[in-house]
Amino acid sequence: MTQRTLVLLKPDTVRRGLVGEILGRFEAKGLTIVAMELRHIDAAMSDQHYAEHVERDFYPDLRTFVTSGPLVSLVLEGDDAIEVVRVINGATDGRKAAPGTIRGDYSLSNRENLVHGSDSTESAAREIALWFPQLAL
Ligand code: PPS
Repeated sequence: MTQRTLVLLKPDTVRRGLVGEILGRFEAKGLTIVAMELRHIDAAMSDQHYAEHVERDFYPDLRTFVTSGPLVSLVLEGDDAIEVVRVINGATDGRKAAPGTIRGDYSLSNRENLVHGSDSTESAAREIALWFPQLAL
């Protein structure tokens, strides 16, 4: 089934000069970029994006990190794109992510873990509408 998913290349990806490497992995897999933007978000946008996590004890750290510099937001499209992106990204904690995944190859952290991918069709619809309202149905 063709799906769309919201992906973030978080500020650590931009700072470390890994945007091209990571985008290339998604493109080489066969996913299509349908929207993309470089932006530096504020706390309010972080709170909206991570609405389900704002009460978690780790959230202040996550918000500080995700607002610490520019990030790249994009929408990818392809067959089962939501699950495919999560497999390519790897487990949340880079220390535990499998080699060959983005986090497994480039991250040693569950905060500075380079990428975000929507975790369900409901999340994808909500996140795409938040980041790219012009794409919302
Ligand atoms: S859960 O409970 O499974 O829904 O949470 P999880 O998927 O593991 O993590 C959700 C997002 O929170 C980030 N995270 C953290 N940030 C900062 N500090 C700590 N300790 C921490 N733990 C988890 C994690 O990177 C996830 O970010 P996204 O952007 O959703 O991948």
